[in-house]
Amino acid sequence: MVPSTGRFAALVALLGYGSVALAAPSAASDPCVKVAGQAFVPPSDALACYKSFPFNETIRQNVLTVVDRVLNFYTFEDYYLHSPKPFQDSTVNIRAQLKRIGSTKYKTDFDFNYDLYNVVNQLNDGHTLWITKCYGVYENLLPAPVVTLEQNGAEGVYVVPDLDQFIPLLGSNFTDYFASAKFDWKRLAGARVLEIEGKDPYAYAEHIAHTQSGNYLDHGVRVNSVFSSYRISGTSYSQRFGDIAGSAFPDKDTLTMKVHVVNATKAETIKVPFLASFAGVPFKNGADFWANNCAPNAQTNGVDLKNTGEMEKLVKRTPERARRLAKASIIDKQKLAVGLPTQFEPTTPKLNGSEGVIKSYILPDGKTGVMFVSSFEPDDANAFMTDVQTVFNQFKAKGVSQLLLDLTNNGDRSLFGMDTDARIGGYVCLGHFLHAFLVGKKNLGDFKNPGFQSTMRASPLAQKILASVISLGLNSTNSFYAPSNCRVIDYDNSTGAFLNDTVMPSNYNYMTPTTTRKINGQDFIESQRIADACESIFNVDIPEEPYFALDKIAIVGNANCASTCAMFTTLMNERHNTAIANFGGKPGSKFEYKGMAGNEVLEWVDLDSEIKTANLKNDPLAPPDLLVNANIRHNWRIAYSFFDEKTPIEYKSERARFRFPYTLDTYNNPQNLWTFAASKLFSSDGSSYYA
Ligand SMILES: *[C@@H]1O[C@H](CO)[C@@H](O)[C@H](O)[C@H]1NC(C)=O
Ligand SMILES: *[C@@H]1O[C@H](CO)[C@@H](O)[C@H](O)[C@H]1NC(C)=O
Ligand SMILES: *[C@@H]1O[C@H](CO)[C@@H](O)[C@H](O)[C@H]1NC(C)=O
Ligand SMILES: *[C@@H]1O[C@H](CO)[C@@H](O)[C@H](O)[C@H]1NC(C)=O
Ligand SMILES: *[C@@H]1O[C@H](CO)[C@@H](O)[C@H](O)[C@H]1NC(C)=O
Ligand SMILES: *[C@@H]1O[C@H](CO)[C@@H](O)[C@H](O)[C@H]1NC(C)=O
Ligand SMILES: *[C@@H]1O[C@H](CO)[C@@H](O)[C@H](O)[C@H]1NC(C)=O
Repeated sequence: MVPSTGRFAALVALLGYGSVALAAPSAASDPCVKVAGQAFVPPSDALACYKSFPFNETIRQNVLTVVDRVLNFYTFEDYYLHSPKPFQDSTVNIRAQLKRIGSTKYKTDFDFNYDLYNVVNQLNDGHTLWITKCYGVYENLLPAPVVTLEQNGAEGVYVVPDLDQFIPLLGSNFTDYFASAKFDWKRLAGARVLEIEGKDPYAYAEHIAHTQSGNYLDHGVRVNSVFSSYRISGTSYSQRFGDIAGSAFPDKDTLTMKVHVVNATKAETIKVPFLASFAGVPFKNGADFWANNCAPNAQTNGVDLKNTGEMEKLVKRTPERARRLAKASIIDKQKLAVGLPTQFEPTTPKLNGSEGVIKSYILPDGKTGVMFVSSFEPDDANAFMTDVQTVFNQFKAKGVSQLLLDLTNNGDRSLFGMDTDARIGGYVCLGHFLHAFLVGKKNLGDFKNPGFQSTMRASPLAQKILASVISLGLNSTNSFYAPSNCRVIDYDNSTGAFLNDTVMPSNYNYMTPTTTRKINGQDFIESQRIADACESIFNVDIPEEPYFALDKIAIVGNANCASTCAMFTTLMNERHNTAIANFGGKPGSKFEYKGMAGNEVLEWVDLDSEIKTANLKNDPLAPPDLLVNANIRHNWRIAYSFFDEKTPIEYKSERARFRFPYTLDTYNNPQNLWTFAASKLFSSDGSSYYA
């Protein structure tokens, strides 16, 4: 409830929460006025603005009701009661946590949201996340991102050596702040980090991976995301801060580091200040902040897509999303895309077909082709496929004999909803397309199923939605549940039906009957096995013979490869035993090559549209509309492993065969990394590098 102290109640009245401002706010009474209009602000000032909105019981009840009912669709809920090894650190009783949050006393709306965010974030499933636009507008940045590097034969943590080239790319608003605070960040370039917050730097990395990084089920993969790394953001090279130097909330003012600065005679302990970067809708005061960033807008909740006007709006806003392409991507909470200093971009020329999310090259050795596939969620899915074909034709013309795929931070900006967030993964069918194109029809085996066997959770409301979708005659233009989105799998011969593995008839109810299996003692009720029906979107021919022998294809990355990227690498590993190398990580550790391998995600707006389009919004099991500008996304569909058809690939431990530490030459220099990887992975002595 709203805190009852008289002073606070007066403040609430003064600020006029909601749309009515009772008095013109001034800097003295409204902490948001102090930070309004500024690109970078001290974290505590940003936090004061966040914390100026009192706790509101109506909002809590609304949010928890929505979250609780959305999670009835969540495929992995039961695993969390006792997460199997090696993922045991992701164990939590989700409903008990929601119950706790339902009865905790919070002072501010932020405190409530922060608690809920952390509980859901620590599921470490990037498909399942509670995020608000409101408390996602400030991101904390430290002018000293760190990396783990091997130097002189030993691995250690260092402040990024390219600090002096990297930090100025944030602009003078960022650097001027440190200049006026007389904090000299430049001298930290390349400094050896001996301790962070009084801990061994790798212990601190593990702490951040455990409490903050989220997104990836495997702890080792999360450790990699705390460090700075190169990536492509949108269609441009970028350098990610990493989760130690960048966090989703302005919740720390400084980071204490014990460092040995280059050429210094002794180590020193310093407090490095964070600065919060603003990426929301501009505002002038608290009331404005709430109206522009926190109040729901026309895109927050779903719509009835039977209504052609609504459908047209969706097509206009997000054409690819309106195609109902199954999406599997996670959200990188590190939104600010700072460029990779240009001197570290590849110097070998880009091939034609590199305008989008894939950048392709031929290395100076003349025999290694490289495709840096940064995302499977491009603006234009057709261009993605034609780019692949264009590039392969150039590889062929130039006599390239081996192919390296780089999937580092395979991610992209969002197309939907939380529009400034970076996404990792993409459209399920583009992953299946790339797999099919690489290996050729000859090696596909049962090409009719381009991906994995999959199921959805058949909760009571899910069953009602499917039945209604069928009786309303909905199809893939306006429904994700529509049977015409799926292929029948002849896995369960007991039904005697559909042994021909075809696209499902539009009236086939794949939840009648359901199947049940036990997970951690719970009955998990799911649909029949289905598969993705992807061929209809393939706009280039899948070659009969592969362009490259399968043992001449290798994959590199930092394992921050989730969703579609994880499904793609799993297909390459499970079906073709492709060499996969992880870079980075904690010294001596072994970790998964796939970060998070759910099959399909639905954003809140997608699920709510599905419910509304199926005429079920008034059902007692249906979640109400959200009263705040937020998103509760969830993993909606499971992909089952070919190695073990009872286990989702998400829970099937598959580790990279190779691990290489980053070095000064490779951590921020993709071409150097590719040259190094080609020399190791395609050479006959490669086996000596097994992780
Ligand atoms: C600095 O921030 C202000 C807004 O506070 C903005 O108008 C200006 O363009 C920024 N300057 C640079 C160099 O980015
Ligand atoms: C709580 O939030 C609801 C929904 O936004 C709003 O209608 C109500 O006025 C708020 N209550 C207070 C005390 O601000
Ligand atoms: C450190 O010392 C070496 C050798 O004297 C010198 O080349 C280098 O520029 C110095 N680096 C810094 C950052 O002072
Ligand atoms: C690349 O595209 C340009 C412009 O369309 C064309 O002139 C050139 O021949 C292409 N190069 C290759 C290798 O296909
Ligand atoms: C799907 O439904 C839409 C809207 O009712 C209709 O216009 C379209 O023809 C249908 N498509 C197929 C393939 O049945
Ligand atoms: C289903 O039947 C086919 C053809 O008889 C057989 O090859 C396959 O192993 C059976 N699958 C299962 C799961 O029993
Ligand atoms: C596949 O089986 C289904 C169900 O028996 C049938 O409706 C459909 O026509 C069959 N398709 C083909 C291509 O044989």
